[in-house]
Amino acid sequence: MSVSAELSEQLLRLTLDALPVYLLLLDAAGGIIFANAAWTRFTRAVGLCTPHAGVGEDYFALCETLPGCDARAFRTAAASIRDVLHGRRESCSSEFSCETGEGRSWYELHARRVETKGRPLLVVTHLDITARKQAKENAIRQHAELAHIARVATAGEIMAGVAHELNQPLTAISNYAQGCVTRLRDGVAAGELTGALSQIMRLAQKSGDIIRRTRNMARKSPPRRSTLNVNDLVHEVLQILHHELVAHGVTVHIQLAEDLPSVFGDAVQVHQVLTNLVLNAIAAVKQMDHAQRELHVTSHARRRSVEVSVIDSGPGFAETPDKLFEPFHTTKPDGLGMGLTISRSIVEAHGGTMRAERAADRTAFRFWLPIQGGAAGV
Ligand SMILES: Nc1ncnc2c1ncn2[C@@H]1O[C@H](COP(=O)(O)OP(=O)(O)OP(=O)(O)O)[C@@H](O)[C@H]1O
Ligand SMILES: [Mg+2]
Repeated sequence: MSVSAELSEQLLRLTLDALPVYLLLLDAAGGIIFANAAWTRFTRAVGLCTPHAGVGEDYFALCETLPGCDARAFRTAAASIRDVLHGRRESCSSEFSCETGEGRSWYELHARRVETKGRPLLVVTHLDITARKQAKENAIRQHAELAHIARVATAGEIMAGVAHELNQPLTAISNYAQGCVTRLRDGVAAGELTGALSQIMRLAQKSGDIIRRTRNMARKSPPRRSTLNVNDLVHEVLQILHHELVAHGVTVHIQLAEDLPSVFGDAVQVHQVLTNLVLNAIAAVKQMDHAQRELHVTSHARRRSVEVSVIDSGPGFAETPDKLFEPFHTTKPDGLGMGLTISRSIVEAHGGTMRAERAADRTAFRFWLPIQGGAAGV
């Protein structure tokens, strides 16, 4: 080897060893033929009992023995890496995690095929993305906490209405029970009270439902996604806010698409979006004469999304629509100005979009959520 070739090999080795990413070179059978210093340090740190940091061993088998290796994620990654190795694709990247001395660490795996003298080789890098992952998880947690605080505030706001709403079934229960007692005293056969007792059961159930719905709103639940029918959530929100709507003389028109496709989302959060929009609509129409207080809630199936519109006959807004979604923007003396900010961020976290529109005598807030299993987009 000439001096300059030797020097350039040394430089190359120094450069590869200086890289913070773990870099490996695999042969066509998946055997490790080269590993840089970062990988060597990593194998020591995780206590991997292998000589020469795994050089000469099978890369795939070795990774599966990493402590706490997320085997399922690694097998998916390994399948893509083998595809690259066999020339079925140029490159691939995926994520997997394992236990290190400092807890669980996350890595982004990249693989690229190169050829030397007609021989295929694979350059594999492991990039530590733990800090990025943790920052994202913290952001999600903080978002969920903020959303929870806002829900508790909203639940407090509507509590008087809920108490009023409960009053009606409780009074009816009391009346039915009183009637049963009187009739029993009058010597009526117990069997004849079945109708009244069934009513008591139904009303008690109804009261329980009202309490459950309000508790769900204030409950601190970790974000949990499931298959949702948005129409059901619309009905539930309008039931919770029934008292507010009646108390302010709002005429409600509901037009929901039949056979609306499901979306995959967090019921508590989508519920929160609808509640915010309906409460804003009530606040808007309150400024109009009684005869002009209207609320329309509609749902439509679009090509790839479900569209929900909350439209009111209020005075509208003078700002640009996007201004309304800015944090702490409020025109209400007791408003926080966070309702729309949180609503839009919830919708966007679900892969959807939200917009405000002002037409002649209508204010519309619309949002789109991707259909379950479909790609995002309207
Ligand atoms: N339906 C609507 N019609 C007219 N203006 C609206 C409507 N909805 C919202 N706005 C305007 O957007 C502002 C921001 O709404 P947002 O829901 O974010 O906050 P808020 O209702 O003021 O307070 P809160 O945080 O309690 O919800 C409102 O103060 C109001 O000026
Ligand atoms: Mg609001």
